[in-house]
Amino acid sequence: MTETIFAFLNSVGFTHPLHPALTHIPMGMVMGAVVFRMASFLPKMKHLAKTGYHCVILGLLGIPPTVFAGYLDWQHTYRGEWEFLIILKIILTGILTITLAAIAIMDDPQDTRFDKLTLFYILTFIMAAGLGFSGGEIQSG
Ligand code: HEM
Repeated sequence: MTETIFAFLNSVGFTHPLHPALTHIPMGMVMGAVVFRMASFLPKMKHLAKTGYHCVILGLLGIPPTVFAGYLDWQHTYRGEWEFLIILKIILTGILTITLAAIAIMDDPQDTRFDKLTLFYILTFIMAAGLGFSGGEIQSG
């Protein structure tokens, strides 16, 4: 299946890896979620917690296509070799997905405090940073 997809893309002139383009959705949304969450604790900025929460939802929705594209690039460009950075990325993706889902289910952006859920936001930031770093390391060889 992987080679069929890349053969089709090559035939229409698209020769780049797929995953890097899609990573911007979860990466950007997680960064936005954390920034808006923190900003919501500033005076008169409480309403920004809702913006942060919406970033969490969109970030969560962006994970399946990003993972699929990452899987395709891994199979196509790196021959599906199990190396440390790939295993790390799979673990970080799992933690990120569970944490975002927990926020989506448990958070009430109308009533935010600097509590356990805010720490979950910070955890998503750390996971996203780890995914970006390990991805960059894979790409730069
Ligand atoms: C939410 C999940 C993920 C995020 C946010 C993410 C993010 C990233 C980022 C930022 C890069 C660097 C791209 C660049 O330098 O332009 C990257 C590269 C890469 N990632 Fe991920 N990643 C995720 C999940 C995965 C998974 C699950 C896999 C494999 C099964 C994977 C495989 C790769 C590979 C092979 C690269 C090297 C670049 C390429 O050829 O695509 N990623 N990732």
